[in-house]
Amino acid sequence: MKFNTKTIHGGQKPDPAYGAVMPPIYQTTTYVQTAPGEHKGYAYSRSHNPTRSALENALASIENGNFGLAFGSGLAAIDAILKLLKSGDEVISTNDLYGGTYRLFTKIFEGFGIKFHFVGMENVSNIENYVNANTKLIWVETPTNPMLNIIDIKAAAGIAKKHDILLAVDNTFATPYLQQPLDLGADIVMHSATKYLGGHSDVVMGALVVKDKDIADKLYFIQNASGAICGPQDSFLVLRGIKTLHVRMQRHCENGKAIATYLAKHSKVENVYWPGFENHPNHDIAKTQMRDFGGMVSFTTKGNNYDEAIKLVGKLKVFILAESLGGVESLAGHPASMTHASIPKEDREKTGVVDSLIRLSVGIEDATDLIADLEQALG
Ligand SMILES: Cc1ncc(COP(=O)(O)O)c(C=O)c1O
Repeated sequence: MKFNTKTIHGGQKPDPAYGAVMPPIYQTTTYVQTAPGEHKGYAYSRSHNPTRSALENALASIENGNFGLAFGSGLAAIDAILKLLKSGDEVISTNDLYGGTYRLFTKIFEGFGIKFHFVGMENVSNIENYVNANTKLIWVETPTNPMLNIIDIKAAAGIAKKHDILLAVDNTFATPYLQQPLDLGADIVMHSATKYLGGHSDVVMGALVVKDKDIADKLYFIQNASGAICGPQDSFLVLRGIKTLHVRMQRHCENGKAIATYLAKHSKVENVYWPGFENHPNHDIAKTQMRDFGGMVSFTTKGNNYDEAIKLVGKLKVFILAESLGGVESLAGHPASMTHASIPKEDREKTGVVDSLIRLSVGIEDATDLIADLEQALG
């Protein structure tokens, strides 16, 4: 099956009870047993739930993996990966990553004796400088949030394989429509399904997909033992979201390109960060590992003024000023006062999160309306 068919049919079959084409929302805690331990594969909904199973099968299919796992949030999914490790283990992570992931690594797992190295991965050979006998995991996010840096997944996988280290890729920004990290050699692909997979800003969820049965078994054990699962209603919503992922992503990419091109020509705009530009530092890698360049665009304005940036996002009428991304509606955010406000100015500026940086999640509205909105706000 091609990707655009897999989003609709991959891993799916009509519900065995009555032939429902969409899996019913099995809103149940438990399942009848004909004798102790004798049931139809479902005993208790933390361990398994038919609606969640339908979603997990779809997730595995669209990421070209063999096993899918759904969690209560993206961070719960990352938490499960980190629980594969033990005290004394080391992780090499990209230094430009979602702030919540950084917080989980440093404020929770460092306290349990796991050591993290945050490394610039635009040049993946940097990773090798931090590998030692304790290194157990490489953490890649590409494109990165909010600077849209690109990391070479295949090259990172080469280093991971050479040293027998797990490679996990946060594929939230790209989605499997744009890139499939397992095919490029990653061991685990992770999603905040809250974003493009759900696609309608109505659910918070996380997902993992793997090819290898041993890793899958360990993760299923953690999913059940730690219990950070999602409910059947949310599973249904994300399953429905996935069915239109390819058409939404196509429009996100078209609109993202239109907005990035418009901003790059605007006299008040200083820099535009979008991997589709030929002068993006890792444009060639993006072109090789991604099918298109996505709907996330960040930019700075001339003068780099904090108050001006806040005024600008306040003037937007079609773009909604809000956290999150990946929904059908266009969203704008000001990282310095929102997502990255807790990071000291000198530290956030090191990765490019300057006072005037604005991050856009370009939705699937008419591009001319989106451009007109930016035009009136830029003034
Ligand atoms: C790239 C990335 N990874 C992980 C997460 C965390 O996901 P969630 O908010 O679903 O816990 C986010 C959330 O914004 C994200 O943008």
